[in-house]
Amino acid sequence: MKKHEYSVIIKILLISVGNLVTGAPTDGLKIFGGQDAAPGQFPYMVSIQNCRESTCKHECGGSVLAPSWIITAGHCACEGPQCQVVAGILNMSETSEWRQTVEVEKAHVHEKYLNFLDAYDISLLQLKEPLTYNDRVQPIPLPKSNWSYSGEAVVSGWGRINGNYDANIPDTLQFQKSTVPKNDECMDLIAARMHGQTNPFDVTRNVCTDNAVPDRGICSGDSGSPLVAEGVVIGLASWAFTPCGQAKAPSAFTRVSYFVDWIHDHMNSTDSTMY
Ligand SMILES: *[C@@H]1O[C@H](CO)[C@@H](O)[C@H](O)[C@H]1NC(C)=O
Ligand SMILES: *[C@@H]1O[C@H](CO)[C@@H](O)[C@H](O)[C@H]1NC(C)=O
Ligand SMILES: *[C@@H]1O[C@H](CO)[C@@H](O)[C@H](O)[C@H]1NC(C)=O
Repeated sequence: MKKHEYSVIIKILLISVGNLVTGAPTDGLKIFGGQDAAPGQFPYMVSIQNCRESTCKHECGGSVLAPSWIITAGHCACEGPQCQVVAGILNMSETSEWRQTVEVEKAHVHEKYLNFLDAYDISLLQLKEPLTYNDRVQPIPLPKSNWSYSGEAVVSGWGRINGNYDANIPDTLQFQKSTVPKNDECMDLIAARMHGQTNPFDVTRNVCTDNAVPDRGICSGDSGSPLVAEGVVIGLASWAFTPCGQAKAPSAFTRVSYFVDWIHDHMNSTDSTMY
């Protein structure tokens, strides 16, 4: 089976630009201003895990679109017995009857996705068996094609909760309310941090959260995790500045509304009675 670069999966792209001031992590910080989620609060949220020698490790977040379909970032794509999706959990260590674990049968990575900096950072994971929907496992709807949104949104994930990107992940799912600025504002906010280097933000295929105050935003382990507004998934965590949690360092997400047709094409053209 084809594998997609495991070495990069756990990373939110780490852009190092000069000597940026490090936002020294505060002890006890939760996903940069985030807080513990409640059971069933994010029923679409899944953990994508890499399994080696019967040990599975969280790599990325994803969202349930249909019983056999998960949406995540392109750099999170994986398939085969070493790639599994865990749904229905709040705590990573949870062994309750809600926990559902399914192998990924096939990864559909966007054809134009080549590496981290590409704005086509999106993939669909087709599961070997369908998930069972219940109070803890539910799909999240897609936005309308090309829907443009700015305002409040919520991001959830099991990514690192301090500035050290190889720190342990939290056991309990974290979430945070964030402001999504208009896209040209994202462009400017990110440009202001690039110190003349090429701005990787793509106004048609990315969306950002502004992280106006310190200790906000995504970190490694949050890759692929959903940004949700008005009940639909508008973004997939793609990249962020390192160290994580610096004020005015936006987090970048794949803009899901741009890819709605691509998503439907892949889900419909694949022989799946589960969709
Ligand atoms: C998750 O972990 C927290 C903190 O350890 C604990 O209070 C809570 O009961 C756990 N919830 C579930 C659903 O396992
Ligand atoms: C969405 O926007 C892109 C870029 O502007 C455009 O090429 C595409 O046709 C649009 N799709 C729809 C369904 O409007
Ligand atoms: C694919 O499926 C979606 C959801 O059922 C539907 O809205 C869309 O029209 C379908 N597209 C095609 C090309 O069949």
